[in-house]
Parts: sequence; C-alpha cells; structure tokens
Amino acid sequence: MSHDQAGGLALPVTDEALARRLGERLEVVEKALQGHVQSRFPYVTETAGHLLAAGGKRFRPLLVLLAAETGDRPDADEVVTAACIVEITHLGSLYHDDVMDEAALRRGADSANVRWDNLVAILTGDFLFARSSELTAQLGAEAVRIQAETFTRLVEGQILETVPPGPGDDPLAHYLEVVAGKTGSLIATSARYGARFSGAGTEVEEALAAYGELVGSAFQLSDDILDIASESVESGKTPGTDLREGVPTLPTLMARASTDPADARLLELLDADLTDDALHAEALGLLRAHPALAQARAYVVAQAQEAKQRLAVLPEGPVRDALEGFADGVATRTA
Ligand code: IPE
Ligand code: IPE
Ligand code: MG
Ligand code: MG
Repeated sequence: MSHDQAGGLALPVTDEALARRLGERLEVVEKALQGHVQSRFPYVTETAGHLLAAGGKRFRPLLVLLAAETGDRPDADEVVTAACIVEITHLGSLYHDDVMDEAALRRGADSANVRWDNLVAILTGDFLFARSSELTAQLGAEAVRIQAETFTRLVEGQILETVPPGPGDDPLAHYLEVVAGKTGSLIATSARYGARFSGAGTEVEEALAAYGELVGSAFQLSDDILDIASESVESGKTPGTDLREGVPTLPTLMARASTDPADARLLELLDADLTDDALHAEALGLLRAHPALAQARAYVVAQAQEAKQRLAVLPEGPVRDALEGFADGVATRTA
C-alpha cells in the first residue's frame, strides 16, 4: 500500500505526458504534506506523521491535480495547497474513523488507536483538521466556507452511520446518505478545488463537483465491497471489519433484502454478534458466495457511469479520458 506504485499513480492515466505532469506535481504535494504534519512538538509530529508515512493512495490530491487540468493554471500554488488540504482532512478523518470502527490496521500499519490509544488518535485527528483549516485560510473566505461545509457533511455522515434508519426510513436510502456524506463530500470538494483554483470557470467547477460526489460515493461503495471480498494483503486493512462491527454496507443491505429461504442462516448471522470469530468467519464466507456481492458491484459500476455523464461539459481529450478512467477505476478497484 503505497502511493508510489507502478506507473507512479494510484489510478491509470493513459496519456503519458499527462501522467508525467501529474506524477511530478504529486511529488511536490507529497513534500509539502511532509512539512504540514510537522509540529513544534516532536511527539505531535510523530503521531501526526504516522499515517502519512504508512502509505495511502493519495487519491484525493491526485483528483485535485487532475481536475486542475481543466483550467488554464493547472500548476498554480493554490492547486498544490488545495491538494494538501484534502489529503490532510482525509488523514484526520482516518484517525477518527479507526477509533469509531475500533480498527487495528490502517495503510498496512497499526492504527493510531492501537499504536497509542483512542485519546491520542482523536487529538491527532483534531490537530490535522486544524492544520487543514490553517491552509484553507490561505485560499480565502470562500474556500473556508467550502471546506467547512464539506467537513460538516463528512462528520454528519460519520454520525449518521452510528444510528439506525428511523422508523419507516428505507435502510438503503439511509445508507446512501451516509456514504455521500462521509466520503462523497470530500471527493466532490477535491474535484471542485482542482477546477476552481486552476481557473476553469463555474460551469466546469459545478460539473466536476457533481462528478466527484458520484465518484466519491462509488469509491466508498467499492470500499465496502472490498471489506467483504478482499484479503488484507491487498487492502492494507483487516477484511470484514465493517461486518464485525455491524456497520451496514451495500452487500449486507442487499443480502438482507433477500427472501430466499436458503439465506436464512446468513440473515440470522447478520443480526448476531459478529465479534465472535467463528460466527464472523461463517458470515464472511456466506457473503463472499452470495449474489448480493455481484449485485453490489453492478450498482457501483452504474454509479460510475452516471459520474462520467457529468463530464459532458469538458472537451474531448486526455484530461476527460483520465477523469473517465478514474471513475471506471474506482468502480472496479481491488485495493
Ligand atoms: C479510506 O480512504 C476511507 C474511505 C473513505 C473509504 P482511501 O481508500 O482513500 O484510503 P487511503 O488514503 O488510500 O489510505
Ligand atoms: C471511512 O469510512 C470514511 C471516513 C474516513 C470519513 P470506512 O470506515 O468505511 O472506511 P475504512 O474501511 O475504515 O477505510
Ligand atoms: Mg473504518
Ligand atoms: Mg467508518
């Protein structure tokens, strides 16, 4: 699990010149990120630098850089700053998320809550959010508003995930709301920032934000599928963590909708305490073999298609191709 994988980028960009430019700019972003997690207190630098150093795909900053190719100032300093802001915001949310989910592994390393404890993980997340706010202030009042709204939605999504749907609410609709909030919001803002700070204009900015929202939700839905389908070697996380914690995901919600009597055992397990290792393994095995997994995958592919339709405002060419490839890659990702 590293951002520095084959081809240099987390998602395929077929145009070589574009891939090279993005790779070079991502290196600039990477260096800047290293600096932004520094504190005057070495202990804070250690805790805040822990997950940055552990790896990660740098998907959000890469999307900022790619979206910035739609404007006439793709290499503006503001674009680099915006790329740092979204990664640092994401990083902070990972520290908090692993506390919420009691996750032990992140980016192939011990989560901060395991390496230190919940208190350190939460306060380090706060430190990172504060750092991203400092950086956002450099981009002006409108950016501060966008950032605050994004963060509001992200946190609302995380909170909403901890409560069941209200009486009469559709569980799938509730869940999709959670996903759009906790993940769609920041990825939408990543695409928006790229367009905005490269000077692409309002129409492109709005189209890219709508694209990012859909791609972002698809990204999370893919992640949910990976929680069921992948081995930890590929994902850098412990498979079945959502399942163990009883966090609803697209495959489990789709399996729950089954009325096939053959699914009785699975449905019983989905309501059981899956912190029990044997029950957890049994549920994971049944889900991996269940048609709900393919159904969930088809849903994500359709959402990526919808995202690509938002790109109609862009001229044809390598940038639009790469954004389309980005949406496809998200829908079919394996890590
Ligand atoms: C993990 O995000 C949390 C989700 C919103 C699914 P990523 O899959 O982008 O995690 P890193 O940054 O590559 O570690
Ligand atoms: C993470 O959601 C969302 C945020 C960090 C805001 P998940 O809990 O589903 O992601 P993973 O599986 O831990 O990466
Ligand atoms: Mg989690
Ligand atoms: Mg979570």
